Amino acid sequence: MNSTQSFSNRSELSCVVIGAGPGGIVATKELLEQGVTDVICLEKSDRLGGIFSGAYDSLTLTSSCAYSMYSDHWIGDGNEHHFWTKAEVVDYWTAYARTFGVVERIRFGVEVEVAEQHSHGWTLRLTDGSELQTRRLVVATGGNRFVNLPDWHTQLTKVRWLHSKDYVNATDLEGKRVLIVGGGESSADITLEISRAAARSWVSLRRTAGWVVPRHRSGRAADLSTNRALWGLPRSYGPELSQRIINFDDSHDSGVNKAAAELNRSCSDLFGVWSTFGTKNHSLPEAIANHGCRVVGDIIEVADGGRRLRESGGEWIDDVDVVLFCTGYKARAPFLPPELCATDPRSLYKHMLHPEHGSSLAWIGLARPGFGSQFPIMEMQARYFALLASGAKSLPDKDTMAEMAARDASRFLSQFGHNARRIRNLVDYHRFMDGMAALIGCEPPLVSSFFLRPRLWLRMVYGPTQATQFRLRGPGKKPRLAREIIMKIPISRFNHMMRASLQWRFREMFRSTNARKAADLPADPAMAAAR
Ligand SMILES: Cc1cc2nc3c(=O)[nH]c(=O)nc-3n(C[C@H](O)[C@H](O)[C@H](O)COP(=O)(O)OP(=O)(O)OC[C@H]3O[C@@H](n4cnc5c(N)ncnc54)[C@H](O)[C@@H]3O)c2cc1C
Ligand SMILES: NC(=O)c1ccc[n+]([C@@H]2O[C@H](COP(=O)([O-])OP(=O)(O)OC[C@H]3O[C@@H](n4cnc5c(N)ncnc54)[C@H](OP(=O)(O)O)[C@@H]3O)[C@@H](O)[C@H]2O)c1
Repeated sequence: MNSTQSFSNRSELSCVVIGAGPGGIVATKELLEQGVTDVICLEKSDRLGGIFSGAYDSLTLTSSCAYSMYSDHWIGDGNEHHFWTKAEVVDYWTAYARTFGVVERIRFGVEVEVAEQHSHGWTLRLTDGSELQTRRLVVATGGNRFVNLPDWHTQLTKVRWLHSKDYVNATDLEGKRVLIVGGGESSADITLEISRAAARSWVSLRRTAGWVVPRHRSGRAADLSTNRALWGLPRSYGPELSQRIINFDDSHDSGVNKAAAELNRSCSDLFGVWSTFGTKNHSLPEAIANHGCRVVGDIIEVADGGRRLRESGGEWIDDVDVVLFCTGYKARAPFLPPELCATDPRSLYKHMLHPEHGSSLAWIGLARPGFGSQFPIMEMQARYFALLASGAKSLPDKDTMAEMAARDASRFLSQFGHNARRIRNLVDYHRFMDGMAALIGCEPPLVSSFFLRPRLWLRMVYGPTQATQFRLRGPGKKPRLAREIIMKIPISRFNHMMRASLQWRFREMFRSTNARKAADLPADPAMAAAR
């Protein structure tokens, strides 16, 4: 069904999900699985996949298939160390949506223009003039649609400028002099392409490029080491861990590894690698080491309509043709009432529920992990919301929700500093996932597995902390399937990080940890409350 006409005679729906990106798909699937069948998903474009059905030509994910997969839909044998291209991940989600009956619930080509709240739900006005009534609303429209630009972009009157959102490929930048601003994953991907094609390229960093790690180490997905063995340690080990990673990269002959070490050396945040966002590919160091891209400081002066730019080190960059902003995004939902359309994710309970609106309104997919993957977080949020919508769980009162949101916010602000202030949805993946698991009641059975199923335990602790380990017990459990999948997912090699984690585990066991605990962050309030 494609037409919105068929909605006009319908009475109130249980739930409407806005957006058929990965967040909207998993939210619709979980609602259906919890018996909330009176749900539809509205998507303004003509296909599912969200930003991955658009975005630049060469986009390849930075989280491996094993990490990015949804808990109960296998990626296909042989893909465990693979990183999907944008077309491949859309194929995976299409198959997922077909398997779980989500495709039939999606209405393509339908844009929500206004969502108005009334006493027992929402009225949605669609761009074709029709209306829909629903008791609950899920906003799954993504946090990467509304661009963030430095104020000085308005002075660029004599050069071409664009944001990474509108970048397609480097073909028309051949032979140009290009300055790229920002150092996250968009910048890494795009800088490498441009540095190969352009006459000259510079990347302007006002602080760091995040924490730079490769997609693969020795042919294996590097994110296997984003696991419980390492991330279960107190965050105060962050500086030591950071130094180990820098030393490891520095010890290589490769110019790319040395450039990565140099970039990471500039990260002076409190907990090092654990205080920032990951840039999980070696594209930027490769552009620097192999293609002559130069790192410069923040742009502090614009002259001649942007043809000349001065960076914070005092150097002028001359004859600039193009400025490409890879300066990230702001989360917005312009169809919501004015007081909600720019909601700060940090004011939401688990980055998803507004204390004043309870379970009548949920944002799915707003939490961005420093490392790990955003898709498992979306799934956990979707599972929790579906349990609320089906009545299987209930929310704490609004004061408790507000208090827990404030405590989470303060924890993430202490851990991530500047990065958490700029990236309002940045979270610590492991702490966030375990907090969600405590709310749902699906914490992985680590203690019993250690004694009864040690091979499963090994994979849960030394394999990536992906979504399947939260399907072993509790609401929505699928233990047989989960065990089968977990046993297929590889574990990390015993590399420099795993050696460090083991050494620190022993250190933690054999000495008083009081001093370290004092230097660390408080536990997740959701986990504490659920105990
Ligand atoms: C370039 C890029 C690469 C990324 N790669 C990774 C990765 O490798 N690993 C990872 O974990 N995370 C990655 N992320 C982060 C995150 O997972 C993605 O942004 C992801 O797309 C978010 O999914 P979403 O469903 O929340 O939003 P989106 O993918 O943005 O989907 C939102 C959907 O809502 C629709 N929509 C919007 N407004 C309306 C409306 N008013 N009415 C109807 N429909 C509407 C849109 O058309 C869209 O289809 C990446 C982000 C970017 C920008
Ligand atoms: N291949 C992939 O998988 C892929 C590709 C692209 C994006 N992504 C994802 O998409 C999301 C967005 O990534 P992104 O790289 O677009 O954005 P981002 O990670 O938010 O990085 C933005 C960069 O721009 C800088 N910046 C922001 N405002 C600035 C300003 N006013 N002046 C100068 N510099 C400024 C930041 O610097 P500071 O750090 O100093 O603030 C940071 O280096 C992330 O979740 C990312 O993981 C994934």
